[in-house]
Amino acid sequence: MSRPAQWFKLPEVFIKTPAEMMRTAKIIAKALPPGTSIGLTGELGAGKTTFVKGFVTAYGINRDAVTSPTFTIINEYGDGLRIFHADLYRIGSDDELVRTGLYDLKFDNGFLLIEWPEKFKSLANYLDLFLVFGIEKQGRMIRITGKKELMARLGKSKNFKRGKNYGFGG
Ligand SMILES: Nc1ncnc2c1ncn2[C@@H]1O[C@H](COP(=O)(O)OP(=O)(O)OP(=O)(O)O)[C@@H](O)[C@H]1O
Ligand SMILES: [Mg+2]
Repeated sequence: MSRPAQWFKLPEVFIKTPAEMMRTAKIIAKALPPGTSIGLTGELGAGKTTFVKGFVTAYGINRDAVTSPTFTIINEYGDGLRIFHADLYRIGSDDELVRTGLYDLKFDNGFLLIEWPEKFKSLANYLDLFLVFGIEKQGRMIRITGKKELMARLGKSKNFKRGKNYGFGG
């Protein structure tokens, strides 16, 4: 999946524990406006679903409501503000992707988080933010890229730790 040219990046965030992954996700969630779609990329067990567990808690949803959508494909959490959580690991073609109903989801008043989006080129322009998760010797790493205004919001979030490479500029 190639990313749009005008994307910006934040420094890598190192995450030691699953609890820290959830805390980081909550901070990121609070800094984002409803209507944001987020791609979560990384090998099996990299922490994508753990991230979603933390993300939903920013909107008063219990983290235990979040389960892996590997078989259900799309999960939905919350009632007022709705958070959709998709996992495309088992989806094999663009046709099949369309049939999941992913493109019909209305999340103006919520969020859409997608695991394994990189399998589909057609999703590149559908995402506002793109997180890459890496497994490190002693934890996990997240690399965040996204649209300029969202990255600025994250950068300004007082809770979001600024790394030494902080700065916009691709
Ligand atoms: N620093 C960390 N951050 C997140 N998860 C961690 C960390 N250290 C260990 N883990 C463990 O790694 C696993 C991450 O699983 P998770 O289901 O979140 O991954 P995933 O990326 O969604 O995988 P899949 O592609 O299979 O859906 C969990 O068992 C979690 O406890
Ligand atoms: Mg998962």
